[in-house]
Amino acid sequence: MKMVNAMKTLVLKKEDVTEIISILNQGGIVALPTDTVYGLAVKSGHLETIEKLTRVKNREIGKPFILLVSAKNQINEFAVLKRRDQKLIKRWMPGATTFIFNKKDTDSQNSNPTIAIRMPDDPWLINIIRKTGPLYVSGANYSGEKVATATKEVLDKFEGKIDAVVDGVSGDTKSTIIDATGGKLVLIREGLIGLYEVERSITDGGKMKIAIAADHGGFAHKEVLKQKLIEWGYEVNDFGTDSEESVDYSDFVYPAAKAVSEGRADKGIIICGTGIGASITANKVHGIRCALVSDVTVAEVTRLHNDTNILAMGGRVINEDTMLKIARVWLSTPFSEDSRHQRRISKIAEIEKAEEK
Ligand code: RB5
Repeated sequence: MKMVNAMKTLVLKKEDVTEIISILNQGGIVALPTDTVYGLAVKSGHLETIEKLTRVKNREIGKPFILLVSAKNQINEFAVLKRRDQKLIKRWMPGATTFIFNKKDTDSQNSNPTIAIRMPDDPWLINIIRKTGPLYVSGANYSGEKVATATKEVLDKFEGKIDAVVDGVSGDTKSTIIDATGGKLVLIREGLIGLYEVERSITDGGKMKIAIAADHGGFAHKEVLKQKLIEWGYEVNDFGTDSEESVDYSDFVYPAAKAVSEGRADKGIIICGTGIGASITANKVHGIRCALVSDVTVAEVTRLHNDTNILAMGGRVINEDTMLKIARVWLSTPFSEDSRHQRRISKIAEIEKAEEK
């Protein structure tokens, strides 16, 4: 394989597909914007490309890279998959989750017994990989440094060291890495998707269902949240409202809370102007533990301690960015299962029972 001279770094456009593919096919390193962060990519199947990437990244020799594939059925060629792993692939690929599997002997480029694999959720990138074959990638940043999400950030670090960068904007969060080589899933690197959600997906077998509802004071936030939840891989049941016209929050929140209470939804997220009316309504419904949250720390603690099943927020209290951060943390944090918290929750359930008599 001819190695491309890496002294001049070309800045290519996303439309320059033929050139991008040609550089990769000749053994070059190309920085690609991905659905997670910018990655330095090389063609798989050749020892020299991996050695070159290791040098450019100042990485320890033999430390593995992530293999990006363009189709789920490609994973079989590289990894020994258990039935559970098939479920993981079906549910989380394409997406921002990388799984480490036991490796088949077919990949001479990688001397590790395991292989980290991800299928990106980006049609442009999938198209490139379809033409080059699977690519080994590593974040376009040095170990311990901030990730790169824009062309300039890549050039600041790697100009003259890589063959090309594709001009664009990437996502801003690294993929979650989960070790699936043993019986128990182990979180190796935190990312957008939580270990808890991945574990649940094996037992539930499907997407987690989220009931959402808002009044006019929370409508705009709900619409943004809905799109993100779908992007994050949830199934969303939207109980309204559908506009900014003034309505009564209880008319929308009650059916959503009922869906959680009756198990038709796994969790609920409700938004009114302050979040107060919505949370009071939800907490009237049997089995609901709803927390009104306006910061990320409380979002985490209320899952760990209270095992809350509905999250209430105030559309006029927090901005959309904070709302998304809260929702993300709340959805990805498991209940601690700690006995003292379990005891307290049971006492709340007893009060509820007594009051319902
Ligand atoms: C509606 O104006 C407002 O009262 C409602 O959105 C909420 O803040 C109630 O608690």
